This record gives sequence, structure tokens and C-alpha cells, in this order.
Amino acid sequence: MNQKIEEILAAISELRANTEKEIEELRIKYLGKKGEVTALFEEFRNVLPEQKREFGQKLNVLKNAVQSKIESLKENIAETGAAKTSCDLTKPGDRMDLGTRHPISITREEIISIFHKFGYTVAEGPEIEDDWHVFGALNFPPEHPARDMQDTFFIHASDNPVLLRTHTSSVQVRAMEKMDLPIRVLCPGRVFRNEAISARAHCIFHQVEGLYIDKGVSFADLKQAVLLFAREMFGEDTEIRLRPSYFPFTEPSAEVDVSCNICKGKGCNICKGTGWLEIMGCGMVDPNVLEASGIDSKVYSGFAFGMGIERIAMLKWQVKDLRHYFENDVRFLRQFETVI
Ligand code: PHE
Repeated sequence: MNQKIEEILAAISELRANTEKEIEELRIKYLGKKGEVTALFEEFRNVLPEQKREFGQKLNVLKNAVQSKIESLKENIAETGAAKTSCDLTKPGDRMDLGTRHPISITREEIISIFHKFGYTVAEGPEIEDDWHVFGALNFPPEHPARDMQDTFFIHASDNPVLLRTHTSSVQVRAMEKMDLPIRVLCPGRVFRNEAISARAHCIFHQVEGLYIDKGVSFADLKQAVLLFAREMFGEDTEIRLRPSYFPFTEPSAEVDVSCNICKGKGCNICKGTGWLEIMGCGMVDPNVLEASGIDSKVYSGFAFGMGIERIAMLKWQVKDLRHYFENDVRFLRQFETVI
């Protein structure tokens, strides 16, 4: 009998069951009417009185062991059963939607990296500005229409107005005030103009402006910088053309066109049949502007240029409506997933 008890104890520690039915079968095998443990209890009647105490204890231990084993098998099944309904570990994971860089950021980085090769560093400045940095230091006469309420968003209009910058030329002024000469600086940033929103204009847009000031900088240097930029940005066979223009802060001033990269100059609906696309304004920094920032205009000269990032991005990817860049429809943005 002792041996039988040991055998059963060893056997139950090995028991496994996957279903409730299997567990029930095991219960019957050991604890049922004809079960092995029940049989031992029958045998117990014939045990000699002096051995009853010892065997009685052993049998109780055995019975408890079998019962608790069966309980724990039941718990196991309940747990794995519950797990099965809430989570299937073999199922493939949910796809994580990766964000993409915004086309305006992509274009801004591309412009910066081109000028980086020419030795330009990047400077940033405040979007909320004073009149001096946006207009005064840039040679805007007091009655200039750009200062008007129609163009500029004023936060606070007074003798010393606070306004949203209408161009990043304000950062160039700050660069001239602070940086050591010679200066080669790019000023990317968000600008604000009180314009009606349409396919071609927005009240918020982005610019990259550049400034180069050194001894003996000439218009030829400006033309060369613009040509190299245009070829890196729009392709090696791109041509440029400069048209006379006017900005208060540059003299002479020009508007830069690049040959249309769609029709290769033949004329198409993107270039409106002209073969040319306007990309930026530029010019030689007006001596008044240098002097306003404390730079000796008899020793130093420089050029400046400025372009709208949205416009460059529209030309590069033939986007016909500027508003796409602001609406952030993911169907539009996803198209730039493969650009970088
Ligand atoms: N600041 C001008 C604008 O916003 C662009 C420009 C910059 C033109 C530098 C010439 C020189 O339109």
C-alpha cells in the first residue's frame, strides 16, 4: 500500500490535460467510485489498527494532492482559454503609419543644402517684429504702401508698432547688426501678409532669403550664385534670366526667371506659354541699408535674394494650388513619401 501511494503521488505530478473532458477523466481515474485513490481507502479498512494512524495521514495527503492537482489543471485551462479570445499571438501586427516630411520642409532643406555648399549658414529670427527690422532698416520710406494695413498684420499699431513680419529680410537686418563681416547667411522662415487666400496666394507662407556682404561683391557674383542655385534645384540645363525690378532695400534690383523645366522653354500651360518661370527677387544691397546696420558702404558691398518656398515647391512638383500645402490632406502629403 505504501508503494502504491508513492506511485500515485509521482504520477500526478506529471499529469497534463488540455480540455475539461481530459480533466474529468483524470478525476474519475483517481477519485471516482472505482478510482485508484478510492480503492486505497477501501483497502484502509484492512490495515492493522497500529498502522491506521500512519496510513490514514498518508492517504489524506494523497487525496489532497490529487484534488489540488485537478484544481490547478482547471485553472490553467481557464487562463489559456481567456487568453485565446482576447489575443491571437500568431496574428500579424498592426501596420504603424509612418509620417512623411512635409513638401515645404523638404524644399526648404534642399534650398539650404544647396547654399550650404557655397558657404552660407542659417539664421532665424522672430516672427513678431518691430517696424525698424521689417521696414525702417530696409530703406522703406515712411509712406511706403507695404507698411499699410492692407499688407501687414499689426498686432499693436502705434508710434512703435508691433507686427507680423512680411518677409524674412528682417532676419537679414538682425544678421547685419550682430554678425562679423564678411556675412554669408540664409534666413528661412514663416512670413505673414494680409492677402486673400487663393490658388496663388496665402496670408501665411514661407521664404528663404539670402545675404552676402564682403569687400568687392558685385552683381556678377549675384548672377553666378543664382545660376548655380537654379541648376542644382531645377536641373543642369536650366537657364536664368534677370528682369529689372524694384525693392526699397536693393539697387539695382531684379526678378529672376528660370527656363521652364516642363516644356524646356517651348511654352506650356505651367509657364503660360512664355517658357520662363519666376522664382525670386534679388539685387545689390542698397548702401542706405548697410549704413542703417552700421556697415561702411564705402568698404563693403553685398547682394541679397529672396524666394517663396511654396512657389519653388509648386514649380518643382507642378502643384497647381498653393492651398494644398496648408490643408495637409494626407492623400496629398503621402505623395512625397518617396522624395527623401
Ligand atoms: N524681401 C523680398 C520679398 O519679400 C524679397 C527680396 C529679398 C528681394 C532680397 C530682393 C532681395 O518679396
